[in-house]
Amino acid sequence: MQKWIMSGLLVVACAFAAVLMFTLPGREQVAQEEKPQMPEITLNAEQAEAVIKANCISCHGDQLQGGAGPNLQKVGAELSADQLFGTITKGKGMMPSFKDKLKEEEIANVAMYLSEKK
Ligand code: HEC
Repeated sequence: MQKWIMSGLLVVACAFAAVLMFTLPGREQVAQEEKPQMPEITLNAEQAEAVIKANCISCHGDQLQGGAGPNLQKVGAELSADQLFGTITKGKGMMPSFKDKLKEEEIANVAMYLSEKK
């Protein structure tokens, strides 16, 4: 009698483990969430300048020459659009995250605009 209960429990435990295996996010998925994926857009320089004027120049200067934040005039020489997108989306140190303030497309556009500044 006891044996039946034990094997019943084992079956339940296995089923539970299998469900967990499929519902828990895999390692790859977690890594992807940490690195935001830049949407594909075409650069709109005018819109990028407007977004930067409204959101960035208070810290980076009206010519992006720097201030509270670093100079961004040649930031494209160091960072790719993808990396810029990540920094602006997530923030970095004293730099605020713009994930909830700007649309993904706006961030991508600014990232592309800045990546051309070399
Ligand atoms: C509240 C002030 C502030 C605002 C607003 C701000 N930044 Fe920053 N930003 C910083 C600071 C400070 C750093 C330096 C962070 C560090 O390296 O620790 C920085 C770093 C950066 C970097 C990384 C530069 C590098 O060489 O690694 C980029 C790119 C950048 N900002 C872009 C932007 C853009 C685009 C906006 C507007 C959407 C913006 N920032 C708005 C303060 C700000």
